[in-house]
Amino acid sequence: MQPIKSPKKLIEVALPLDDINIAAAREKSIRHGHPSTLHLWWARRPLAAARAVLFAQLVNDPGYQRKLGYGVNKKEAELKRETLFQIVRDLVKWENTNNEEVLNRARAAIWESWRETCHLNRNHPSASELFNPEKLPASHDPFAGGGSIPLEAQRLGLESHGSDLNPVAVLINKAMIEIPPRFKDKAPIAPDNKEQQSLVEEWKGAKGLAEDIKRYGAQLSERVRNKIGHFYPEVTLPEAYGGGEATVLAWLWARTVISVNASLKLTHLSALSPK
Ligand SMILES: C[S@@+](CC[C@H](N)C(=O)[O-])C[C@H]1O[C@@H](n2cnc3c(N)ncnc32)[C@H](O)[C@@H]1O
Repeated sequence: MQPIKSPKKLIEVALPLDDINIAAAREKSIRHGHPSTLHLWWARRPLAAARAVLFAQLVNDPGYQRKLGYGVNKKEAELKRETLFQIVRDLVKWENTNNEEVLNRARAAIWESWRETCHLNRNHPSASELFNPEKLPASHDPFAGGGSIPLEAQRLGLESHGSDLNPVAVLINKAMIEIPPRFKDKAPIAPDNKEQQSLVEEWKGAKGLAEDIKRYGAQLSERVRNKIGHFYPEVTLPEAYGGGEATVLAWLWARTVISVNASLKLTHLSALSPK
């Protein structure tokens, strides 16, 4: 069988690790808009790390590789590598999660590497099946868990698949990766209300779906409030806790059991007391 010519990937040579680590650590404190708020997953990988690692596995390292006759000289390779590092640095920032300029730069670099690999393998007997320069290979995470890897593969422009033994993980992945694209660029269908009227009017990407979830969420919350809201009256806070009125989010209830030995203990305590 003719071997496949596979240039070294960036991840095998170098990575801007400090930038990735800082972004991954920062992500832990981000609540709004993060998939970890959809459902907690015990071993979720930070999105920044998943995105960086996928990108660095998909782009070729520009260094010269004699065996393949691939790459550029040391000085040029350093410059090219720096361009790829800069993409990684921009990619891992939370603010750039949906920044199309940054994502398009990353996608373009992935396509360029793929086309180079296809060119290197153009004479392979299965080239038409394995090395189509017009079709990126798909990604499959067979242990998808909280879905960080399938989500980021999709964001980088790959056809993305995920599977898992645990049905909860499968549900999280479906809700995050499979269902939202079906509603891409669609306007919300839930009845509008005044508060939300001023929000987004251009329903790009998953914005319409997100708006529907907000609107139906508000309706549901209203119904629940009407039904059981009286169990959660406002309480007056002690001065030590800032004073004023506050909404109760949850009541903690404890079952009280009177000790059969209470009188014995009291007797015992009074017997111990100096008086
Ligand atoms: C470490 S977690 C994956 C975390 C994931 N990369 C993320 O970012 O959330 C490993 C996953 O592998 C799944 N798993 C373990 N053994 C498996 C098997 N034999 N087949 C499929 N999935 C399996 C577990 O259910 C778990 O969700």
